[in-house]
Amino acid sequence: MSIIPILQSIKIIEKQYMTGDLPVLVACSDKNMYICKYMRSSVGSFKLVSEFIGSQLANVWGIDSPPYAFVWIKQEHWSGINTSHSVSAPCWGYMELVGTVDVTSTTCFEINPTSSLLKQLMKIALFDFWIANEDRTYNNANMLYDMINQRLVSIDYGGILNTSTYDYSLSQLTSTDTILYADIFMHLKKCMRIESIKEEAEKLKVYYDVSIEQSRNSMEAILRQLPKEWNVCESIIEAKMKQLFELKWLEGVWENFLDCLTENLER
Ligand SMILES: Nc1ncnc2c1ncn2[C@@H]1O[C@H](COP(=O)(O)OP(=O)(O)OP(=O)(O)O)[C@@H](O)[C@H]1O
Ligand SMILES: [Mg+2]
Repeated sequence: MSIIPILQSIKIIEKQYMTGDLPVLVACSDKNMYICKYMRSSVGSFKLVSEFIGSQLANVWGIDSPPYAFVWIKQEHWSGINTSHSVSAPCWGYMELVGTVDVTSTTCFEINPTSSLLKQLMKIALFDFWIANEDRTYNNANMLYDMINQRLVSIDYGGILNTSTYDYSLSQLTSTDTILYADIFMHLKKCMRIESIKEEAEKLKVYYDVSIEQSRNSMEAILRQLPKEWNVCESIIEAKMKQLFELKWLEGVWENFLDCLTENLER
């Protein structure tokens, strides 16, 4: 795994998004803008840990996501933001990608459906099943469309591992809480015959097995870079990671992916 850049804010926060985590947009020391998620209190932040793990594993799977970095936002740069935050912990930042639009039930119909985008979406869906991402659903795709490079970009890993507290064992997504239930899938699936889509899905088994192996091999290096300031007990995270690689989970995910795909293809 490559070393994660550590950046500093260079200006007052420019904007706050009114989405669930109230992220902020910050100009950083590498001259790029970053959408930053931050420690909301001194209580351990499982959500930041999820963002951190999810975005790196997405990378391992070859799923397009924005480049990320640790961002230290200086105290004086928070002025005007009323949301509670900690200045003594790094934020998790995603580089702002220009020339992109949020994929929604409206914008998705502007996208030219191609088999390449459909295959990209199926990989994202499979990744979500494995990582138990409950936050990418029919009304919140957590996905950008890059109009220049005509690709989907996956964002927002705060909802992986089912819960934001890591309290319960992993549980499978249902056929309605996957991106396969969303309009973007209904739109993209038009470009191929149902039988061909099912064949493409079956072919993803090799990709799945390789990605799992690569994830397993990367896990230690990922966790080594986890900031202590996020205050989450390492053994809880390790136990959670172990569940992701249990045979029963891995087999269940693959079956569930195919079942949910078929269900959503035929509806
Ligand atoms: N890398 C990026 N480049 C451009 N825009 C982005 C990027 N990341 C996020 N955004 C924009 O910021 C918005 C909020 O991002 P994100 O979904 O990560 O936040 P959130 O508060 O966790 O959302 P949710 O309500 O789903 O929990 C996105 O809908 C998108 O418009
Ligand atoms: Mg989101």
